[in-house]
Amino acid sequence: MRNVEISYDSKAVVHNVNLKIKYGEILGIVGESGSGKSTLIKAAIGLLGNDGSINKGNVFYKGNDLLNMKSEELRKIRGPEMGMIFQNCEAALSPTRTIGSQLKEMMKQHTDMDEKEILNMANAFFQKMNLDGSRILKSYPFELSGGMNQRVGIVMAMMLKPDLLFADEPTSALDIISQAQVVGELKKLRDEFGTAIVIVTHNIGIVSYMADKVAVMNQGNLIEYGETKDVINNPKQAYTKKLISAVPKIRKE
Ligand SMILES: Nc1ncnc2c1ncn2[C@@H]1O[C@H](COP(=O)(O)OP(=O)(O)OP(=O)(O)O)[C@@H](O)[C@H]1O
Ligand SMILES: [Mg+2]
Repeated sequence: MRNVEISYDSKAVVHNVNLKIKYGEILGIVGESGSGKSTLIKAAIGLLGNDGSINKGNVFYKGNDLLNMKSEELRKIRGPEMGMIFQNCEAALSPTRTIGSQLKEMMKQHTDMDEKEILNMANAFFQKMNLDGSRILKSYPFELSGGMNQRVGIVMAMMLKPDLLFADEPTSALDIISQAQVVGELKKLRDEFGTAIVIVTHNIGIVSYMADKVAVMNQGNLIEYGETKDVINNPKQAYTKKLISAVPKIRKE
């Protein structure tokens, strides 16, 4: 992102943001509620909606300016190239179809895998996420808990093995054990496939565990950005210091 300003109904909520993520890198985005984290991610993936717009700057993906791309081209790269785990995964699932049917349709649309290969892969991912695959695939989203749907959303995004994955508070609905599993699986995805990951989280512990770099948002501004260990051990902005000191214990390395 270069000099990006984002508005809703012509009121700017994100100002002049510059951010870069390389292949295989994990970037953590932190900052208080309403600081523009989700907006930033939606802008990067072209999902700002009708009220939102990028009114200044450029967004590049592999050298191509996303703002000049046709919506058809954007649709093609969304999913297999740029994946997204939404803050509210249930909203991204259709309420009237089983998880299995949605998952199969998604994989058939973007890959040439057959049904058996898709189900084997799905079951392996569900197992890693501590979910009973055979039950999940038969279920409708309303038959699952919030945390289960969240993990389903994560599995669906990961199965396409995107080059760049955006995860907006992917663990906020999960208990601490499931959180650790999900975060571990995301990190493995990067280690095995070189997936670049942008993760929005309120959990500085998750940032220090998995992120190579961290960006701190405050009132629509990117106020601090750097290597995670530098930012955590040596925060420059008073706001960042406050964020870190609000966490009871942080491992310093
Ligand atoms: N569709 C929308 N229309 C108008 N304003 C919006 C819309 N979505 C977000 N905003 C506003 O933009 C600002 C940034 O919101 P955003 O959702 O990006 O914050 P956030 O950092 O993700 O917060 P949280 O941690 O609570 O998820 C807020 O002031 C919010 O009210
Ligand atoms: Mg948000």
